[in-house]
Amino acid sequence: MHDVMIYQKKNTPFMRSNAYTNCYEFMFVLSKGKPNTFHPLKTKTARHGPEMLVHNKGPDGVNKKVLKELKKEKTRTNIWAYAVGYGGTTTDKVAFEHPAVFPEKLAEDHILSWTNPGDLVFDPMCGSGTTGKMALINNRRFIGVDISKEYIAIAKKRIEILTTKLI
Ligand SMILES: C[S@@+](CC[C@H](N)C(=O)[O-])C[C@H]1O[C@@H](n2cnc3c(N)ncnc32)[C@H](O)[C@@H]1O
Repeated sequence: MHDVMIYQKKNTPFMRSNAYTNCYEFMFVLSKGKPNTFHPLKTKTARHGPEMLVHNKGPDGVNKKVLKELKKEKTRTNIWAYAVGYGGTTTDKVAFEHPAVFPEKLAEDHILSWTNPGDLVFDPMCGSGTTGKMALINNRRFIGVDISKEYIAIAKKRIEILTTKLI
């Protein structure tokens, strides 16, 4: 287990009456040994530019301030938030014939983090084909498997639509 991450849903229609509405799922990053690839995704910082910052306290216990340059971006945390539903998850209407489509951006963010162009991405439970679509858009190769023929048909349709657009 390399990391346990959280997929946070920015919006969810499934309200609960006796508890707070669930708005997250786990994302397990599994790796045989160290991951071969890691391209950390960045996020903009709230403040950047020169700022007086508290520096190491000396033995006298007095806080000293020094001028430092705050960076414009930093590596994201392991909680990733996405809008869900039409427009958030995807704009492919056919995808919603599957009951549990993941956001395209979520699949893309993992593909960009853990693989390089030309790598082979395998999704053994590919559902509506989100991972495949995003793998192909990002110049990766893809193999998808699903137990359901109906879902494979949806995935194929989505990838066909994409490849027609790319040609
Ligand atoms: C949460 S969905 C995946 C959704 C997909 N990421 C997407 O964006 O459309 C999980 C999928 O796993 C498939 N599945 C469940 N058990 C399976 C098994 N034993 N072998 C292959 N696929 C399986 C289901 O049919 C379902 O499509």
